[in-house]
Amino acid sequence: MNTIEKTIAMIAISLFLLSATLIKQTVPWVAPKDADAVKNPVKDNATATADGKKLYTQYCAVCHGAKGKGDGPAGIALTPRPADHSSARIQSQTDGAIYWKITTGKAPMASYKVPLKDEQRWELVNYIRELGKPAAKK
Ligand code: HEC
Repeated sequence: MNTIEKTIAMIAISLFLLSATLIKQTVPWVAPKDADAVKNPVKDNATATADGKKLYTQYCAVCHGAKGKGDGPAGIALTPRPADHSSARIQSQTDGAIYWKITTGKAPMASYKVPLKDEQRWELVNYIRELGKPAAKK
């Protein structure tokens, strides 16, 4: 490779990395349509919500923050930033969509299909609903 070829290669690589970073920051994470139809088997079940809070503290708060604001200590430096679970953007999604995201994961967030049972992931959905309530017992 001569100098010009090297320069062109460097520019191409830089543009690729830059666009990958921009895409990561701007494209919203959307669950597939059929996820919306999946019903929450523990909806309005207070015991399940309380269990969800415990799981959230153990597995999620490190990135999403204790109150779900997306400000956990391990989340500050991530791109994209962890979602604010109290926000309208999250609360406007169906239980099925939120469940699908917890199940599937998306880097830098892991999939929770293996470490957590189906029911535990639904319990987390219940607790995320609590985080969206104004003065809830978070
Ligand atoms: C390593 C840090 C990390 C941990 C731990 C983590 N998350 Fe996330 N989470 C993220 C990041 C970063 C995003 C944003 C991903 C994106 O938008 O591309 C995210 C996004 C989400 C979303 C989707 C928000 C949206 O855009 O619709 C949900 C739901 C979610 N997390 C739930 C959880 C739950 C529940 C747990 C615990 C079981 C958890 N997360 C643990 C980092 C984390």
